[in-house]
Amino acid sequence: MTIAPLISCSQVYFGAGALDSLAMVLKDLGACRVLVVTDKGVSGAGILDEPISALGGSGIGCTVFDDIKPEPDENTVDALIDAVCSDRIDAVVGFGGGSAMDCAKVAAVSLAHGGRLRDYIGRDRVTERGLPLVLVPTTSGTGSESTPNALFIVDGEKQAVISPHLLPKAAVIDPVVTVTAPARVTAASGVDALVHACESFTSLRATPLTEVYSLRAAELIAGAIRTAVWQGSNMAARRDMALGSYLAGIAIANAGTGAVHALAYPLGSRFGLSHGMSNSMMFAAVSEANVPADLDKFAILARALGSKTEGMSRRESAAAYTAEIKSIIRDVGLPSSLMELGVKASDLDQLVSDAAKQTRLLINNPRALSPEDIATVYSRALLGEGCSR
Ligand SMILES: [Fe+2]
Repeated sequence: MTIAPLISCSQVYFGAGALDSLAMVLKDLGACRVLVVTDKGVSGAGILDEPISALGGSGIGCTVFDDIKPEPDENTVDALIDAVCSDRIDAVVGFGGGSAMDCAKVAAVSLAHGGRLRDYIGRDRVTERGLPLVLVPTTSGTGSESTPNALFIVDGEKQAVISPHLLPKAAVIDPVVTVTAPARVTAASGVDALVHACESFTSLRATPLTEVYSLRAAELIAGAIRTAVWQGSNMAARRDMALGSYLAGIAIANAGTGAVHALAYPLGSRFGLSHGMSNSMMFAAVSEANVPADLDKFAILARALGSKTEGMSRRESAAAYTAEIKSIIRDVGLPSSLMELGVKASDLDQLVSDAAKQTRLLINNPRALSPEDIATVYSRALLGEGCSR
């Protein structure tokens, strides 16, 4: 049996004030002119003003591209590369949520070696490192700063660029920059991070090492998400969310995600739902289907999420996991049924067909799901059965 090494980004600056290190990090990487990839929400909130002025003070020039859209597609990435390719960029900073960080990953490769997004879609089609890359997450959600993946909508489907060469040289994780994230964004991205923790823990690729990251991430996120959503300036909650999201990112980088993500992706590509919202909509329904497949692990997760399972049977303890998920989704104010978001019963066939193609994720799921099983899960999510307020 071959044991794979745990992969993660090599340098991590974590904690309130970590952003002050950005100029020094880039200096150490030999950067003279950096590309900052972000979105208009981040640039408009003024979070970039101080770091960019600090870079200028260190003699580092900046090109800011802030036209990253949620759920980025081929046009977004190619427009980014076209806009900056003549700027003599020598390092890239992804500053934002998962969309900005994922676009920055591909830009770093493309600016060094040429090619467009389509050239790199798939596993290991990036064969060497791109420009030095630093990632600064502004939400606690995707964990993109610790994964070798970048996700895009290509040909109407969510597709991935996967290569260890996408891992950043450094991640700068400063919970202070997440404080301006609105409650709805904090809720949806936070649930995405929780899905990462839980799916990686029960993944068929989980190892004793990845389980440590998954479980601690689940505890941190479940303990902090409600406060982070409803008291956005609570720094202890923001810190726990940032740490949980980062740890969960390491876990999925090594153990993968599962059916929640597989069934969520078509909601993003067909209905334009954000990644976090899509995952939130599928979380409880997939969990109900998965619980019988691994009662012991789901019982452990239930306790990590805060459930008191003393005196319960194995089956009851595992079922408490789904109850905790429903409680969290309800408490952070996210919708409980796909119907509320405009999905109709007549859409289910297409969703099932799209989800069944996500085999790279479904193979990690603790329960093998047939197309009929997937249809049942979507039907439950459509009606929000068990999630009613
Ligand atoms: Fe995710």
